[in-house]
Amino acid sequence: MKHQSSTLAVPDISAVPRHVAIIMDGNGRWATKRFLPRVAGHAKGVDAVRAIVEACAVRGVEFLTLFAFSSENWRRPADEVSVLMRLFMTVLEREVGKMSLNGIRLKIVGDMSRFDPKLQEMALRAEAQTADNHRLTLTVCANYGGRWDVMQAVSRMVKDNPGAHDFSEGQLAPYLAMAYAPEPDLFIRTGGEQRISNFLLWQLAYSELYFTDTFWPDFDAEALDLAIASYQQRERRFGRTSAQVLDKKKAS
Ligand code: IPE
Ligand code: IPE
Ligand code: MG
Repeated sequence: MKHQSSTLAVPDISAVPRHVAIIMDGNGRWATKRFLPRVAGHAKGVDAVRAIVEACAVRGVEFLTLFAFSSENWRRPADEVSVLMRLFMTVLEREVGKMSLNGIRLKIVGDMSRFDPKLQEMALRAEAQTADNHRLTLTVCANYGGRWDVMQAVSRMVKDNPGAHDFSEGQLAPYLAMAYAPEPDLFIRTGGEQRISNFLLWQLAYSELYFTDTFWPDFDAEALDLAIASYQQRERRFGRTSAQVLDKKKAS
């Protein structure tokens, strides 16, 4: 199915968001509050990932996208970065078999070229191993940046169209890193900050935004339900008036 762009057409919407995108923030503060090293928060965050993937699948969410490591996170102390890298590898090694059994299709999106070749290979293998699953598509954004995404898409589009000077949004869409998914319906950021931090800049154009103070390791199915309930209260107008939205609802 071809996915619509929310700025070009009004997408179909459903009570359960089809696509949920999450900035999993607050691991470090969760740990610091408990007098633990920051990396203990990252390890605990993996448990939350496991729970939320399953909770989303059970609720009928089709696409779940998690921001695991931003293009700016290289600025962190080297030992924290290397612990995070090792954690990715362990998770890939341990969880992919389970994902397969649970019908999870895994996608890893971002500039992987900066990662250890072994990690790159594991990521490709995990994607291949889960490629035929249909219950939920889990995208992990690693060394991802929204600006990187737009730029890599533009570069590839221009390369494929030598001599062309005018391009449309529709032409760019297939080159974006997450062209296989509809745009996120619901964006969640845990950990109290209210910013996008260079996550999916293009794709969040018309997403509903939800911020919670809960630290990521504490974000559970109940917290997810609060976010979905908040989403269900929103009126998604996509530029139209409230009266138009209501008329359309009555007619359908
Ligand atoms: C998010 O938690 C995880 C990553 C960025 C990898 P943080 O590590 O940013 O936690 P805080 O924001 O310092 O609490
Ligand atoms: C955003 O969190 C990136 C991830 C969750 C992977 P950060 O904690 O790095 O964001 P900033 O730098 O505080 O905005
Ligand atoms: Mg943070």
